Amino acid sequence: MNSHARISNPPDETSHGKKKNAKLKVKTKEYKIHKQKHFCFITNKYMSKIILTGDRPTGRLHLGHYVGSLKRRVELQNSGEFDKIYIMIADAQALTDNADNPEKVRQNIIEVALDYLSCGLDPEKSTIFIQSQVPELCELAFYYMNLVTVSRLQRNPTVKTEIQMRNFETSIPVGFFTYPISQASDITAFKATTVPAGEDQEPMLEQAREIVRRFNSTYGEVLVEPSILLPNNSACLRLPGTDGKAKMSKSLGNCIYLSDTPEDVKKRVMSMFTDPDHLRVQDPGKIEGNTVFTYLDAFCKDEHFAKYFPDYANLDELKAHYQRGGLGDVKVKKFLNAILQEELEPIRERRKQFEQDIPGVYQMLKRGSEVARETAAATLADVRKAMRINYFDDEELIRTQAEQKRNK
Ligand code: TRP
Repeated sequence: MNSHARISNPPDETSHGKKKNAKLKVKTKEYKIHKQKHFCFITNKYMSKIILTGDRPTGRLHLGHYVGSLKRRVELQNSGEFDKIYIMIADAQALTDNADNPEKVRQNIIEVALDYLSCGLDPEKSTIFIQSQVPELCELAFYYMNLVTVSRLQRNPTVKTEIQMRNFETSIPVGFFTYPISQASDITAFKATTVPAGEDQEPMLEQAREIVRRFNSTYGEVLVEPSILLPNNSACLRLPGTDGKAKMSKSLGNCIYLSDTPEDVKKRVMSMFTDPDHLRVQDPGKIEGNTVFTYLDAFCKDEHFAKYFPDYANLDELKAHYQRGGLGDVKVKKFLNAILQEELEPIRERRKQFEQDIPGVYQMLKRGSEVARETAAATLADVRKAMRINYFDDEELIRTQAEQKRNK
């Protein structure tokens, strides 16, 4: 098998310890410095930096996912700044609005896993797992449900838009309605501090923080408040569809998928929405709302000009010419196509290699799910203890009640 396609185990204490032994000394110092930075004065403890994030497996991942979250995850993974990284394929959440189509979810788990691996998520550094294989998450959600009101859920703007998009106005499945609570379980089960995601996930994070505060003040400090990590480039916050519509969405057919062929990508780019009033080359063109330029904002670097478009030094010069008039859409589109092909080519190549070892990908997901399950179970044990529903471990409870009843 090709060495690139080899899939390794998710990090676990033993294999990590053994393999990285040689490097351990060097690492210790870094680790200490970084730990000191995260001393928490409320709990008097050093806080680990932990990432949890994920995607619903309802289709292959596209450029919107890539710039909105995936690319950043890989950078964060390789920065070595985080103690633990969990990447979740949220199949249970996907089922909340696909209850009648579990086959779609089932088929897309492998697509999302392949997209992850081909973008550079590395099971040695990040635990990649499947949500439904960690049933502890359901139990946590069930307890959290007591800490959230129906009216609070009704105010969630992301859920509101999603309800409209799915024509759920008159009959919302309870599971769908409560998915922000389930998402709070996903995050808190791993004591995640950091959730890299698009801005549409902010209401979910707000809900999770509220649950954490409510839980901790009611039962004791167990859970950790997470914060969202948004993309650092505003064009990446929400990449529009190729038709200029607000969001890439499979149903609108306006996506560029990470696994699209070079021809597909080119076709999409060449038919992209631009400035509808820019009819003749010599006309002045508009940049705002011009999808080609939004994509350039997200992907273009100065070195791309030297390589593919030496007439200009940088994006500002290109924009200025377009606004002045005299620059045709086709030239700009060809430039964008070159940039996107360069970005996507290595991803495509890696995907092809991983596709040769599907059983290996499933094996990786299985191990990841086992590791995730252990972590979630440990948090759940803390939760049960804090809620005092750990009856069999509570010798004092049994002893006091025994005495009370005996002396009656
Ligand atoms: N809601 C996310 C999406 O639609 C997927 C998701 C589920 C998630 N659980 C999560 C994201 C926890 C971040 C953290 O893509």
